[in-house]
Amino acid sequence: MAPLSLSSTTSPKDTKVPIPLLGFGLWQLPGEACLAPARAALAAGYRHLDSAQLYRNEAQVGALLHEIAGSIPRGEIFITTKQGVCGGSPEKTYQLALDSVRRISGDGDNGYVELFLIHTPRGGADARRELWGALEKLYAEGKARLIGVSNYDVEHLEEMRAYAKVWPPHVNQIELHPWSQQREVVKYCEDHGIVVQAYSPLVTGEKDKLEHTVLGRIAAKHSKTPAQVLIRYGLQKGWVVLPKSKTPERIEQNADVFGFELDEEDIVALDGLEEEV
Ligand code: A2P
Repeated sequence: MAPLSLSSTTSPKDTKVPIPLLGFGLWQLPGEACLAPARAALAAGYRHLDSAQLYRNEAQVGALLHEIAGSIPRGEIFITTKQGVCGGSPEKTYQLALDSVRRISGDGDNGYVELFLIHTPRGGADARRELWGALEKLYAEGKARLIGVSNYDVEHLEEMRAYAKVWPPHVNQIELHPWSQQREVVKYCEDHGIVVQAYSPLVTGEKDKLEHTVLGRIAAKHSKTPAQVLIRYGLQKGWVVLPKSKTPERIEQNADVFGFELDEEDIVALDGLEEEV
């Protein structure tokens, strides 16, 4: 395998759409609040932004795409959004998804996002099916280059098989870090060619985790920070990793994870952290 770099990508099985392995999460950065961090991320070399209807920053992502159009070609940027609720009918649910694409990509018929996810399985089986139908329609129309799910367990993924025209989903985005390894669903995704995306790779900044002695020892060994070790851990697992920060130095630091490699001993030690819980 070629060494990982900031421009490394992965593609879901049977697709040719490259997903940058490092993405920038936009959760808890509503409205204009996302702009400075997203600009800093693009300046630091990130080319993948992770938004959602719930984050209330799709329109700002759209404005940003417009703003940078002269310096970074649209084809070099990867945008994700997500929808977790239905609209009251299949047509209205589809319309809500289309509204997202338009907020990000403008009103023209050629607008698209790279990835559209069902945000959560929690709406129930009927909602899951209706949302997937809406995303399949967007996919068929080219308005979402890839479609997938988030927070899905094996049972939700298996349930989709019965009705999905697009199966497997291209992506499953779940909470992943040493204290939340979700081994069963990760294995299922790997076995089926579903790209695994890791949200909250920094354990949402939890102090007792970022200051854990095992993590600290590994960070010191590589002259890196605990956050950099956690991001590198996810990358070496083969996951797409989506750290977030509103702090410019951390945004840069979190992208500086390609000049070192965790060894087998480090990975085993980090894997072992889940057992402590
Ligand atoms: P901040 O936004 O104030 O920089 P996660 O990506 O797991 O959701 O974690 C996000 C949290 O981790 C945020 O609170 C963020 O704080 C913090 N964080 C991001 N990068 C770093 C870093 N390099 N070192 C320490 N904390 C970080």
